Amino acid sequence: MQEDLKIYLEQNSYLQDGELLEWNGEMQEVFSPVCTTQNGKAQKIKIGAYPMLSSKESLKALESAKKAFDNGKGQWPTMSIEQRIEHMHKFVQMMKEQQELIVKLLMWEIGKSLQDSQKEFERTVDYVSDTIEALKDLDRDSSKFTKEQGVLAQIRRAPLGVVLCMGPFNYPLNETFTTLIPALLMGNTVVFKPPKYGVLLHQPLLKAFQESFPKGVINTVYGSGEEVVQPIIESGDINVLAFIGTSKVANILKQHHPKPNRLRSVLGLEAKNAGIILDHADMDLAVEESVQGSLSFNGQRCTALKILYVDEKIVDEFLDKFTKKVNMLKVGMPWEEGVQITPLPEDHKTDYLSDLIEDAKKHGAKVINEGGGEVVQTLMKPAVLYPVNDKMKIYYEEQFGPVVPVVPFKSIEEPLSYIENSNYGQQVSVFGTDYEVIASLIDPLVNQVCRVNINSLCQRGPDSFPFTGRKDSAEGTLSVGDALRVFSIRTLVSTKDNEQNTQIIKNIINERSSNFLSTDFIL
Ligand code: G3H
Repeated sequence: MQEDLKIYLEQNSYLQDGELLEWNGEMQEVFSPVCTTQNGKAQKIKIGAYPMLSSKESLKALESAKKAFDNGKGQWPTMSIEQRIEHMHKFVQMMKEQQELIVKLLMWEIGKSLQDSQKEFERTVDYVSDTIEALKDLDRDSSKFTKEQGVLAQIRRAPLGVVLCMGPFNYPLNETFTTLIPALLMGNTVVFKPPKYGVLLHQPLLKAFQESFPKGVINTVYGSGEEVVQPIIESGDINVLAFIGTSKVANILKQHHPKPNRLRSVLGLEAKNAGIILDHADMDLAVEESVQGSLSFNGQRCTALKILYVDEKIVDEFLDKFTKKVNMLKVGMPWEEGVQITPLPEDHKTDYLSDLIEDAKKHGAKVINEGGGEVVQTLMKPAVLYPVNDKMKIYYEEQFGPVVPVVPFKSIEEPLSYIENSNYGQQVSVFGTDYEVIASLIDPLVNQVCRVNINSLCQRGPDSFPFTGRKDSAEGTLSVGDALRVFSIRTLVSTKDNEQNTQIIKNIINERSSNFLSTDFIL
């Protein structure tokens, strides 16, 4: 490994009420999923540590966010959109200066390849710029007045209050920012807790947060969920829960809120997206997309293809080509050129995946690719399981790792019924060339999932497209534009259209005495 790739970061501060406070209490050591061998024993490499705050600091973070919002009277929620955008521009500028360090930390903390870590950073910067542009559009659209049935009104969007923002470990920067940035731009204030894996990479941004936004607008907490998250939700003072993780945790968090009607939830949860390979599929394309769809970043994407249904007439040919491609994926360390399968960050993850494989074997499946499922420390060689059936845990559970279950089918009703009965409803991929058959599948599938991908893998992007799911897969829709709506509420100022009222409105506009009631717009 090149010397310049090594890293060690001890974070001993946290951001609260505009201050970077020093922490002298308990620390959580951070280990990379990358291992080293010492005295013949494999050990995860220690790459730093972060503060384990207590409920006391967490509640102070909440207080600070509440104070900055000040029941909607605070400087940030009443500021003009143009000014908020200026603050955000400053933040992005400072963020870009930290690119190298953040990318390195991303790679070490979650084992994402250097190339993909780089892409995650760039995609996030683009997301911020696109969100700013979408906000300008929204602002232009709402700068006009509406006259209806003798009532004059201006309809805009106003912030909701204090947002608790929690992202996932697989896209700790990007997915966190897809909620954090729109939440801030719409005038909310934020308590931000990074995911369990992927904490240190946010440390280089603390100063940027501190210097770019008024005090208390963004506050950070670290520690166990029970200690730092539960008390602030129990307080009833969180207005929006922006959480990307499992439905189990989301349900627990929501239950802690004493006034559920006051809590808006924006959730990105599990998925078990199916790939359906029809007998008239373009075989090479279906194989290529299925390999990428199921195994990019070790299958650790919520949008990954987590079960493949293949028409039994072509299943042998498919498996032959599929396993050959899977075995060509480069397994190695995240900094290696062209690496595709890398160490897994979650504790005991390879044990869990091995258990899924053993369970499937007990019920009649085999690992059909050479070396599939072999484990070396935190690395697992991808395993292709065949034939998979409904007695196996892998049929239902979201593996979130490099194990690909393949189910042969006789009738198209089999994959359709799987999707109907699934707890999840995010996306599906359909591979075929017969447009009539594809059309007959589109209509039932769009009422089960939220994106039907034809001849391509499942994915979130482009980020301007709506990203959501049914059942236990999501609540609320995220995209560059939708997120601005999710973190705000339509609010209007209206009056009966008569001379006196019109004059009052005119005066306010001409004197620019209100930031909300205004016809100014940003170009
Ligand atoms: O983990 C879920 C991500 O939102 C997936 O994003 O489809 O761009 O990899 P992606």
